[in-house]
Amino acid sequence: TTGMVTYDPGFMNTAACRSAITYIDGDAGILRYRGYPIEQLAESSSYLETGYLLSHGELPTAEEALEWEDRILRHTHVHDDYQRLISSFPREAHPMAILSSAVAAMPGHYHEVFDITSAEQMDLATVLLLAKAPTLMAYALRHARHQDKPDVAPEIGYVADMLRLSVGPHRRWEPDPAMVRALDVLLLLHADHEQNCSTSTVRNVGSAGANLFLSVSAGISALAGPKHGGANEAVLAMLEEIRDSGVAVSEFMTKVKDKSSGARLMGFGHRVYKNYDPRAAIVKKLADEVLSSMGKRDELLDIAMELEGIALADDYFVERKLYPNVDFYTGLIYRAMGFPTSMFTPLFAIGRMPGWIAQWREMMQDPSTKIARPRQVYTGPLERDFVPVQDRP
Ligand code: SDX
Repeated sequence: TTGMVTYDPGFMNTAACRSAITYIDGDAGILRYRGYPIEQLAESSSYLETGYLLSHGELPTAEEALEWEDRILRHTHVHDDYQRLISSFPREAHPMAILSSAVAAMPGHYHEVFDITSAEQMDLATVLLLAKAPTLMAYALRHARHQDKPDVAPEIGYVADMLRLSVGPHRRWEPDPAMVRALDVLLLLHADHEQNCSTSTVRNVGSAGANLFLSVSAGISALAGPKHGGANEAVLAMLEEIRDSGVAVSEFMTKVKDKSSGARLMGFGHRVYKNYDPRAAIVKKLADEVLSSMGKRDELLDIAMELEGIALADDYFVERKLYPNVDFYTGLIYRAMGFPTSMFTPLFAIGRMPGWIAQWREMMQDPSTKIARPRQVYTGPLERDFVPVQDRP
């Protein structure tokens, strides 16, 4: 009833851990954070409030929410050392590499938050990471664009300032409230997702006793892979390739079904969801709303919707239970907001930050946690004697 997973070491998909944070029913397309359906949180909550829920297990009271947001807003500024670190990267470096490096550099400034037995210090580490990650991401984008790195303006709000710093045309620009809410929802939708590749990486690294920042830095690296968080960037490239090729969408789908082509329908399929990813349904509706409100009827959205329509009616995809996942529509919204495709996965990383933190905290506070040490099925040569080089053929 609680979605608890039992251990069965003999089973290939052995449950990696026990967790009370996120529940997924892949067959039914259900996702809940601490028991709350993702649809209700997307409708009524916020990214920061969801971050509090994931780490603390309960929704904050009005007073707790205000104090939580105020603490985070007081820490969004980053030390000049980070600006120098980011500026030391080649301009064409991928922002995920910069973000992973900058987060890994944080212990140099915040060594005092390593006491995992102190709830206060765990909260401080959480606040610091949630506060500074968006600023580091924005500075990475500005570095690539040869732009300066203006100081933060927390008074306009957490998500609004993330947009201002990243895509604002000038320092005093403030984003439209509808755009702020859309990004807030997108970040919230990505906040956690059980034991996905990057979260498992954070847990594995943390299980060795590595601190929160180093563990999350490893998670950022895992998320960069195109099969994982990098898919939202790959979806845009796929849609643009279809548009620019002049090939009919149905012809592209025929190519995808021909395995020898190696073509994949990016943004489709999921290791756990064998039904529509509930997040994708919310993002698809949001994409339509945001693009319409911005007066941007996007031909790529039309191509995406045509791809989905064909896939949902085609036995090849239906038999393999391939449905849109969270990455299929998100890039279209990010692009409409002014983010380059290179920032799509960093935005996924910012969204997933609260989940990585909550999962790391849960693991570190579990006295039964042992260092991750998966076993293997050995497929190499049987025992044999060494052959000196002069006797080798
Ligand atoms: C995320 O784990 C998470 O929770 C991840 C995530 C999160 O929030 O953290 O949800 C975020 O990573 C979403 C996934 C983003 N990735 C993509 O969109 C990339 C495209 N999708 C895939 O590469 C693939 O679907 C995976 C990696 C997501 C899942 O891979 P699996 O588990 O190997 O796929 P499968 O075993 O379910 O495949 C079944 C069949 C196979 O064909 P057959 O061998 O049975 O003939 O479906 C085929 C696969 O080849 N298939 C696809 C396909 N995905 C699977 N064929 C075409 N296009 C695809 N996208």
